[in-house]
Amino acid sequence: MDAIALLKQDHERVKSLLEELATSTTRAVKKRRELLQKIHVNLKAHTTIEEEIFYPAFKAAGKKDEATMYFEALEEHRAAEDLVLPDLMDTDPATEQFSGRAKVLKELIEHHIEEEEGEMFKEAKKLLDKPRLAELGARMEARKKDILGELTTAA
Ligand SMILES: [Fe+2]
Ligand SMILES: [Fe+2]
Repeated sequence: MDAIALLKQDHERVKSLLEELATSTTRAVKKRRELLQKIHVNLKAHTTIEEEIFYPAFKAAGKKDEATMYFEALEEHRAAEDLVLPDLMDTDPATEQFSGRAKVLKELIEHHIEEEEGEMFKEAKKLLDKPRLAELGARMEARKKDILGELTTAA
C-alpha cells in the first residue's frame, strides 16, 4: 500500500472510533474505556509513523510552505495526544465532562485529518513520486506492526 493510502486508512479507523466515543452515553462506562484504549493505541501508531517516516520525507522534499505545514501538524499531534487525550483518560467515563472532552478530541483530530488530506497529502503527491510513496508506505507498515505489537503486549 502506498504511504498516502495507508495513512488515509488509519484516518478512517480513528474517525469511526471517535464517532462511536462521541455518541456514547454516560451509562456506557465499559464501552467508553474500551474505545478510549483503542483510540490511544491506533493514534499512537499512526502519529509515530507519520512523525518518524512520512513527515520528514515530506519536509525534506519541500520548501518553506511544507516546513510550515510540518510544524503545525506536529503541534496538532501534541495537542491531541499529549494534552487532550491524557486528560480524557483521567476523566470518569460516567460523567458529562467526559462527553464534552470526547467531543473536543474528536473535533481536534477531524480538523487535523482534514488538513492532512486536503493540503499535506495533495502536496506530497506532487513532491514524491510513486516509487517513493510505495517505499515510504512499506516502511510505515512495518513500523506500525512493531508499535502495535509493543503497545498491545504492554497493555
Ligand atoms: Fe497527523
Ligand atoms: Fe494522519
